[in-house]
Amino acid sequence: MPSTSQCRVCGDQVTEFFDFGRQPLSDAFHTPGFDFEKEFFFRLAVGLCQGCTMVQLMEEVPRDNMFHEEYPYHSSGSAYMREHFEGLAKRLLATELTADDPFVVELGCNDGVMLKVMAESGVRHLGVEPSGGVADVAAAKGVRVRKSFFEESTAKEIAAEDGRADVIYAANTLCHIPYMESVLSGVRALLKPTGVFVFEDPYLGDIVERTSFDQIYDEHFFFFTARSVREMAARNGLELVDVERLPVHGGEVRYTLAPAGERTPSQAVADLLRDEAESGLAEPATLQEFGRKVTVIRDDLTGLLRRLKDEGKKVVAYGATAKSATVTNLCGITPDLVSFVCDTTPAKQGRVTPGTHIPVVTPDTFAADYPDYALLFAWNHADEIMAKEQAFRDAGGKWILYVPDVRIV
Ligand code: SAH
Ligand code: TMP
Ligand code: ZN
Repeated sequence: MPSTSQCRVCGDQVTEFFDFGRQPLSDAFHTPGFDFEKEFFFRLAVGLCQGCTMVQLMEEVPRDNMFHEEYPYHSSGSAYMREHFEGLAKRLLATELTADDPFVVELGCNDGVMLKVMAESGVRHLGVEPSGGVADVAAAKGVRVRKSFFEESTAKEIAAEDGRADVIYAANTLCHIPYMESVLSGVRALLKPTGVFVFEDPYLGDIVERTSFDQIYDEHFFFFTARSVREMAARNGLELVDVERLPVHGGEVRYTLAPAGERTPSQAVADLLRDEAESGLAEPATLQEFGRKVTVIRDDLTGLLRRLKDEGKKVVAYGATAKSATVTNLCGITPDLVSFVCDTTPAKQGRVTPGTHIPVVTPDTFAADYPDYALLFAWNHADEIMAKEQAFRDAGGKWILYVPDVRIV
């Protein structure tokens, strides 16, 4: 019997469709001297709500275990993502923030990659960011930050102190928050009637289409679709008025919600809802098939890495992504199969990967002695990384990819 849990959006029954087994915190890069007896693990499994069709994790990890002073992810680490967020900021300035003295709030502003543009444009703004280390980096860029988790109480305090917002924005953050009812009542309390709540997160449609199962890890609690977001919005006095597909992070959707009845939903909403219905996206059979494909990738990838090891090849990995925790722990990829992972993030270097304890090194170590193969964990940044590391290929090196299937390029 598959396990069940209670939906964090509508309270109906969630039925599990895939179990990744015992998994660590995806961003817990411990130092080699850490007492690994104390390493945190939980059961990572994912299910579908029979009521509102929201796909979600079966177990919740306490938020303070994930988002704290040492949260290592820095959004500005990718040039492509910097451009993406700067473009979005400029668009918001030209469309939603044209009234007198507009006010924009960002949830999970991280190192200030988006709000920096608002600060430089002299627009009234506030970032809400619980992870102290990255919040300090944002503040150093001139961004106004409040170090807290966004929820109903925070939203009411902000509204009392700063007034209501024209735009509330969240990138790769809403899907991190299981306590959705509190967040959406907060959004309602903080948003002007004419305002919009814009958020972008990995899209279940892309995850299923590409079998990008490594989008599933502790921090990603929800996997949205237009249908489940529309339902979630409606339950909280909001309405889904626009959607836009984005190429970033392996495929995302940017959703725009407005207070119910304030704006006319765009044609794009109807189109995406229709596509989802036609493809049977959030249906049990589709998700079972997704699970079957995950086991094929798992077996192909472990088979390939074992064969390369037997052949005496040198294999390393590139990008100590949060996503890769799911891959390495599901497939049992330890330092005997992949000798190190290189990553540009100082907060990850000199540490080891969660659960599988592969050393994280600087990209210089990669370049000092090119391996035969590099397993690309940061596949969502493939274009940027492969261009930058052309010398590796020139030296005869090959990349290993595993989404949508295992292949060497
Ligand atoms: N927006 C950035 C960062 C995404 S990482 C980007 O797209 O690159 C997710 C961020 O959400 C982390 O910085 C984390 O600290 C923050 N976060 C987690 N829970 C939150 C909450 N309840 N309110 C606001 N931010 C939260
Ligand atoms: P992400 O997939 O969650 O954005 O994480 C990407 C990780 O890859 C992050 O730890 C930074 C790292 N990275 C590199 O090491 N080199 C690069 O060129 C890029 C774009 C990312
Ligand atoms: Zn539900």
